[in-house]
Amino acid sequence: MNRNFALEFVRVTEAAALSSARLMGRGDEKLADQAAVDAMRNALNSIEFDGRVVIGEGERDEAPMLYIGEKVGKGGSSRLDLALDPLEGTTICAKGLNNSISVIAIAEDGNFLHAPDCYMEKIAVGPEAKGAVDLTRSPTENLREIAKAKKCSVSDLTAIILDRPRHEELIKEVRMSGARIWLIGDGDVSAAIATTEPTSGVDVLFGTGGAPEGVIAAAALRCRGGDFIGRLVFKDDAERARANRMGIQDLKKIYGIHDLAKGNVMFSATGVTQGTFLNGIRFFPGGAESHSVVMRSETGTIRYIHTHHQFNK
Ligand code: FBP
Repeated sequence: MNRNFALEFVRVTEAAALSSARLMGRGDEKLADQAAVDAMRNALNSIEFDGRVVIGEGERDEAPMLYIGEKVGKGGSSRLDLALDPLEGTTICAKGLNNSISVIAIAEDGNFLHAPDCYMEKIAVGPEAKGAVDLTRSPTENLREIAKAKKCSVSDLTAIILDRPRHEELIKEVRMSGARIWLIGDGDVSAAIATTEPTSGVDVLFGTGGAPEGVIAAAALRCRGGDFIGRLVFKDDAERARANRMGIQDLKKIYGIHDLAKGNVMFSATGVTQGTFLNGIRFFPGGAESHSVVMRSETGTIRYIHTHHQFNK
């Protein structure tokens, strides 16, 4: 994969972040999301490549743009698959809270899991705890293994968990284990990435969130040397049937990080609202500044890009 694509794609997440950030705090999730989708699609269509959306805004009949299977790009010899979320954390942006981002992950043809739009049980950890977690173990056992790998005690660890009623038992168990908890309202992609960032103070992500977000987070953690494990969770038979139609036969499979995002992957994210690892968009007269991260799994290069945009040029 051409390494310069990494820099092309940062413009894509910048464009989506700049558009949705204008609508921060308006209380309108759909409007903010639509602004991000429109901007991301326009930016993608200005790049010379033959792109296909694998993880996107939904199935073709429910998402008019950036739907699963949509072809994007100007064309060319590079055939790439995209896992994207123009606005990850729509509610966060609508409320002006922390950690909404615009994200895109890129891989060669066929390297992302075609995850259906259902839930996924997830565990994410940073490089020091790579290989120490297992979805068949209890959270208590996983915390013990993470503590062993990080040479600390369980009470030194912080688990980040989506604040949802479905996590009541999980939260109870993590509290019993002695670890600290950071409950978040939304945004488990940036939460998963936070586990790889020593200054975030987060050691592990536990819990169930969107499966598409799981693939995107796995791509990001591939670039940062972290670990990610997921198992699809289905609400009903209709979701199981949809997964079968998308080529998933083993509905109980535990996916390792390479099952979700294999080969060389690139990842770009731009902060929309203020965040743990990326600052949000700040507007100034005639322009704005954005903060992005662009990463490649092949080299492990992580670039933080602070951009000043001039709207009148
Ligand atoms: P959106 O950006 O689509 O609003 O998703 C936000 C999010 O919090 C994800 O980060 C997470 O994976 C998922 O929603 C959790 O789903 P739910 O809100 O149904 O618990």
